[in-house]
Amino acid sequence: MLPQRVTIVEVGPRDGLQNESTTLSKDVRVELIRRLMDCGLTHIEAGSFVHPQRVPQMAGTDAVLAELPLDGDIHFPVLVPNQAGLEKALAAGAKEIAIFAAASETFSQKNINCSIAESMRRFMPVAEQAHRHGVKVRGYISCVMGCPYEGIIEVNAVVAVARRLIDLGCYEISLGDTIGAGSPLMTQRMIESLANDLEINRLAVHFHDTYGQALTNIYAALQLGVSVIDSSVAGLGGCPYAHGVSGKGASGNVASEDVVHLLNGLGIAHGVNLDKLVDTGRYICAQLDRPVMSRVNLAMS
Ligand code: HMG
Ligand code: MG
Repeated sequence: MLPQRVTIVEVGPRDGLQNESTTLSKDVRVELIRRLMDCGLTHIEAGSFVHPQRVPQMAGTDAVLAELPLDGDIHFPVLVPNQAGLEKALAAGAKEIAIFAAASETFSQKNINCSIAESMRRFMPVAEQAHRHGVKVRGYISCVMGCPYEGIIEVNAVVAVARRLIDLGCYEISLGDTIGAGSPLMTQRMIESLANDLEINRLAVHFHDTYGQALTNIYAALQLGVSVIDSSVAGLGGCPYAHGVSGKGASGNVASEDVVHLLNGLGIAHGVNLDKLVDTGRYICAQLDRPVMSRVNLAMS
């Protein structure tokens, strides 16, 4: 049954910018987030505390957080890979972090330089310390429906990682189709398998649109009752460590404008102003000097 209301987690200021050739100034990143807030978005991923040489586009996330109303109602999660990242996030006043694991061993090594098991050992004290500070912890799983290095990923691997992240206290698991390899049937089977063990309201979907299947996959997830959708304004996004053996990697996230239009068509509430979102997509693409990738944004030109 379709949910009556969906929460959109806007990942543009993090996933959207982390793979761009242009590194934006702190002021532009803050302005992007302000505009997204003005659209009515309540969950806006603000950046990441990873190694600045690995992802220079996210350096200075502390300065971005310093300009945001962190004590208000809006959630500004930041990605944290380890203890060093957590300390920086806490020092910057973050109220919510996202730890990020993978369902693929090779991707885990390429992305965060450790095995899946080792990542869980690292995340355990990170999650514990975050909770002690009253900081909420979200969990990501990458490569849930395919890996750029290993190809097919078994659903059992996703279920096992999801269970471990829930056991670490993650309030929600975002299922990342990092390279956009999923289909509606794969989405359905994965969510049904996860729902055998976890509550559906603990699951979020995070689709990249490499093969143009993201909206269809979202529809499949909505039909099973998933009510949290990650998306990125203008369809920006991609993981710098998802360029596998084929050279093809993560292209953009599903565009927030397209998700809002889909939800409008389904009569599902979301609280986001589409006209303002379209303007925000154009703003950030102008800053990046790149075309908008959202079909809805282009259609509303
Ligand atoms: P490492 O080299 O294994 O770390 O990197 P280390 O613990 O061995 O330390 C090496 C050096 O890094 C030390 O400095 C540490 O202090 C420093 P040195 O002593 O040599 O001067 N260091 C750090 N500096 C800043 N911040 C930190 C940090 N940690 C260690 N947090 C690490 C491990 C995870 C840090 C590295 O591999 C890394 O930064 N990776 C980047 C991963 C990333 O950001 N990927 C993109 C996001 S994930 C994604 O996009 C997928 C998602 O969207 C879902 C989907 O679509 O699938 C979420
Ligand atoms: Mg992603």
